[in-house]
Amino acid sequence: MSKFNYVILLFLMTFSMLLCQSSQAVGLSSKTGSGKLKVATESVDQVNIAKEVVFNKMPQSINNGEKRFNQTCVYCHGYQGSGGKAKKLQGRKLVADRLFKTITKGKRKGGSVMPPWRKAFSIEERWELVTYIMSLSDLK
Ligand code: HEC
Repeated sequence: MSKFNYVILLFLMTFSMLLCQSSQAVGLSSKTGSGKLKVATESVDQVNIAKEVVFNKMPQSINNGEKRFNQTCVYCHGYQGSGGKAKKLQGRKLVADRLFKTITKGKRKGGSVMPPWRKAFSIEERWELVTYIMSLSDLK
């Protein structure tokens, strides 16, 4: 094969690869465009239905929340939310919907940061954490 042909062949291979990639990308984005969005955004309905389910399953929900809290949150919020690296969660009048939002999105206060927990926990699991934190409101 002459040098010239070799260069043309290389060019054609590169060109067809690029073409292939771009058409794949277009195919992907159009296929998963709406589907992906549905997974990424949690609808108000989804969140409210899950809330009702979880709040109707007391005290099991509180127990589930407690287990998860002890695994993931105690490090900063202390045993039974007694505080430590982050604010105390016991003995406070906290509103369920706000708790859910904070847990979902995380929080920053000065130099301290709480990461968002949306990817780590399902909607139900986050509501369970809320029921547990609310169960601590009588503690001093
Ligand atoms: C890396 C440390 C860290 C971890 C782990 C952590 N948090 Fe936090 N959390 C914070 C900080 C910092 C704040 C914001 C400042 C504050 O309120 O003390 C906060 C705030 C909160 C608040 C808001 C409290 C209020 O006053 O409104 C809630 C609710 C909460 N966290 C729940 C959780 C739950 C549930 C978990 C476990 C899934 C968790 N946190 C894990 C550090 C943490």
